[in-house]
Amino acid sequence: MAPRYSRLSIALHWTMAAAIGLAWVLGQVMDEVGRGLLQVTLSGSHALIGLAVLALVLPRALARRWPRPAGPAAAEPVPTGPAWEERLAPAVHLALYALMLLLPLTGLLAAMAGRRPLPVLGLFEIPTPLAPLGLRRSLKGVHEVLSNAMLGLVALHVLATLWHALVRRDDVAARMIPVLARSR
Ligand code: HEM
Ligand code: HEM
Repeated sequence: MAPRYSRLSIALHWTMAAAIGLAWVLGQVMDEVGRGLLQVTLSGSHALIGLAVLALVLPRALARRWPRPAGPAAAEPVPTGPAWEERLAPAVHLALYALMLLLPLTGLLAAMAGRRPLPVLGLFEIPTPLAPLGLRRSLKGVHEVLSNAMLGLVALHVLATLWHALVRRDDVAARMIPVLARSR
């Protein structure tokens, strides 16, 4: 049996994948709608969802050590392919973790370096203590570059999952998509 991730890890994986996808789409759309209530609502939702991703990164990393379903240590990869593949998978996962941390962090810093506080759906405002540094453009630029890197890396990650599911036909995809394990 392929080692599985705990239910908590699987729940966090899919919640965060949905949140990152939504934050990414909102990031693209919020710039296209001009100024007004819609723009404020979209950018507030973008910030709130992004901050939720930031808040969940540490619990998710810790959840990898959580008690798992019976069987071998769940988060440990099982050799399924050539050595380069075995090294690439954890490297991509590590890079995804780095981006899940740095992407929202640079967004937050860009907002804090803005000219005006960023209202978050009437719940709170992100203040601008970094405005005097004049770093808004650079921080926005880094945030954009990282958002593109996330897109590229997630595409690679999804292609790898499809490769395992459709070509290799091994248990790797089922580790994170339990419905595949049940349909075997
Ligand atoms: C997983 C989390 C996040 C993702 C995937 C994400 C993605 C994006 C994307 C795709 C853009 C548009 C970049 C472009 O113009 O090409 C953007 C812009 C931006 N994001 Fe994020 N973001 C995230 C988190 C955050 C957070 C937590 C904040 C603030 C609290 C934030 C603040 C901003 C700001 C200020 C901009 C620039 C808006 C402007 O043009 O003025 N982001 N983000
Ligand atoms: C923003 C989107 C995503 C991110 C950031 C992400 C990140 C990760 C990370 C860091 C892992 C390692 C396990 C962990 O600590 O959770 C992982 C595992 C996995 N992900 Fe994703 N993921 C995303 C979307 C997807 C999608 C859309 C699919 C499927 C089409 C997918 C399929 C898998 C599979 C099958 C594994 C287990 C791989 C293994 O155990 O070697 N992920 N993902």
